[in-house]
Amino acid sequence: MITAETIEKIKETARIEEVVGDFVHLKKRGSSLIGNCPFHGEKTPSFHVSVNKGIYKCFGCGVAGDSVRFVMDHEKYTYPEALKYLANKYNIEVEETVESKEQLELNSARESLYIVSQFAANFFEEQLWNSDDGRAIGLSYFKERGFREDIIKKFNLGYSPDVWDALTQEAAKNQHAEEYLEKTGLSIRNDKGKLYDRFRGRVMFPIHNFTGRVIGFGGRTLKTDKNVPKYVNSPESDIYHKSNVLYGLYHAKKAIRDQDNCYLVEGYADVLAVHQAYIENVVASSGTSLTIEQIKLISRFTQNVTILYDGDAAGIKASLRGLDMILEEGLNVKVVSFPDGDDPDSYMHKVGAGAFKTYIEEQRQDFILYKANILLAEAGKDPIKRAGIIRDIVESIAKIPDNIKASVFVRECSHLLEIEERVLLTELNAIKLAKSKKTAAATAPKPSSFGHPDMPPDDLFAEDGPAAVPMPSAAEQISSDILQENEIIRLLLTFGHELATWEQTDNMYVGSFIIQNLSDVTFEDSLCNRVIDYYRNELEKGELPTINQFLRSEDGEIANLAITLTTSPYSLSENWLNKHQIYVKDESQNIKAAVLGGLYHLKKRKVDKMLTDLMNQIKEEKDVTNQDILMGRYAQVKNVERTISKFLGSVIVK
Ligand code: GTP
Ligand code: MN
Repeated sequence: MITAETIEKIKETARIEEVVGDFVHLKKRGSSLIGNCPFHGEKTPSFHVSVNKGIYKCFGCGVAGDSVRFVMDHEKYTYPEALKYLANKYNIEVEETVESKEQLELNSARESLYIVSQFAANFFEEQLWNSDDGRAIGLSYFKERGFREDIIKKFNLGYSPDVWDALTQEAAKNQHAEEYLEKTGLSIRNDKGKLYDRFRGRVMFPIHNFTGRVIGFGGRTLKTDKNVPKYVNSPESDIYHKSNVLYGLYHAKKAIRDQDNCYLVEGYADVLAVHQAYIENVVASSGTSLTIEQIKLISRFTQNVTILYDGDAAGIKASLRGLDMILEEGLNVKVVSFPDGDDPDSYMHKVGAGAFKTYIEEQRQDFILYKANILLAEAGKDPIKRAGIIRDIVESIAKIPDNIKASVFVRECSHLLEIEERVLLTELNAIKLAKSKKTAAATAPKPSSFGHPDMPPDDLFAEDGPAAVPMPSAAEQISSDILQENEIIRLLLTFGHELATWEQTDNMYVGSFIIQNLSDVTFEDSLCNRVIDYYRNELEKGELPTINQFLRSEDGEIANLAITLTTSPYSLSENWLNKHQIYVKDESQNIKAAVLGGLYHLKKRKVDKMLTDLMNQIKEEKDVTNQDILMGRYAQVKNVERTISKFLGSVIVK
């Protein structure tokens, strides 16, 4: 643990304007310095740095903090990582409290593993550029494949000589202990107790962690012999855990944040090729199939992932399931697939950097729609297969934690699958309900995981995140009414000011129309209720509320809801966006259909529920007279239900 004195010293020494100034161009204005906020895109500066107070604040997006917080947020470092970064910048010696002998030994052992890995990386790189074999075999291989020198250098690619123990010998000469060569897997001990190199006669890809330290290697053979494994990789070690490493992240992280998107590819070569096309926000899961840890790592930098796929259909189908995992983490997933037989690497070299860039920008599709299209094409006209697809797609949608986003997909897929939205919503509810029952059963209270000794309790970047996942509210679990309720709010806010031209009375606004029609409906979602109540109150005062009243509401939750519901297209793909805008246009041309459809779907839902409740009561009621009364009521409600269904079936053409 870093000592309190060291932390104090770091905080005293670090000057906010210098720390921020490394990343943001600051100009003097009055008593403070200002610049463009690095945490949100802006063209006019609203990011203020107060030299006296040692803090920054952005009046655009609200971020604020001191030097340490800035480094944590900007570089996505943990608290101790940020302190060490600053200590390094100001040449401050970091004193750490002596924990235990074991802890100390562990730390210095890990440090030794880093050191020997860096040594090996230097050795391989040196071999590639400066040895005869390295140049003739390794470098010429990369060049034949079309990789530019700047790319080869950027990734510190190397060559391991085709000799039994070249690295092992060189390491011994430089006093590196055998223990660490073995523990990093760079050397292997044979039966006779002698060490030899794991990587021989291969081109070498050093793997960096996200702070840039070498932690392992991938070595590619240059032989075409099928019996030789194409890649040999470093084994797991104390510094290399495959499941939470992404190849290329160190070189990509700035671009990922700037572009607010992360391209995901399969191989080392693909990462290089994409960089060569001047696209730097790319990483590879390399070798392992994508893990939750890797997804969490990406989500520190962006919520948007774009998968670049090989073209072959079998591979695509196999990986579809894995992608649901990304949805589950709340990320937006897009997909680009390449023509049959091509991977990003081969395609880039085939068409060139410029065309490659255009291709991936134009071809990217939203994952769920992509999946739906692939499965649909496969099922053809077979009704049973098509029914299976619906389930499959809705299962993906059910993974999306954000209900509003999910509802957008429900609508899109209802068009695509030619199925009523209501049917999809019912299916979605069934899945969500089953899932929430399962989690409810499995979730016992867990201790908080903010266990890192150096981590302040409010730290948001704890390695494994908060363990106590809040349970969904009862309303969320039981009902997707919320989706439908949100839809009403959206219609209210979007069209409230239009005239309800289909009404007999002149000057009836859509807002008044909706509110009037909701007099017999109770919303389950309390937030939706608050919006409705507010709207109704304003109307009663004789005012028609403006959308700004909601967008700028003091009630942060209301503002948030209003913003999310009324900003289309919920940050989805461009293809999708175009489609959606067309849809929105259609909607505004037929406000009547949109509003009546929304209202009556909701009413039908409520009425269906009343019917189920009544039926249960009838079953339980022993008294015959009471039963009769209930049956009479049932018949009445059933009548209402029929009218609504008929109405929905005839008037609303969706
Ligand atoms: P090139 O064939 O040079 O284009 O390599 P690539 O990086 O594009 O690899 P490929 O698409 O064939 O495979 C994807 C990733 O899987 C590689 O980057 C490796 O991490 C891993 N991989 C491929 N082949 C092997 C293998 O034989 N053994 C192991 N352990 N991993 C492999
Ligand atoms: Mn490849």
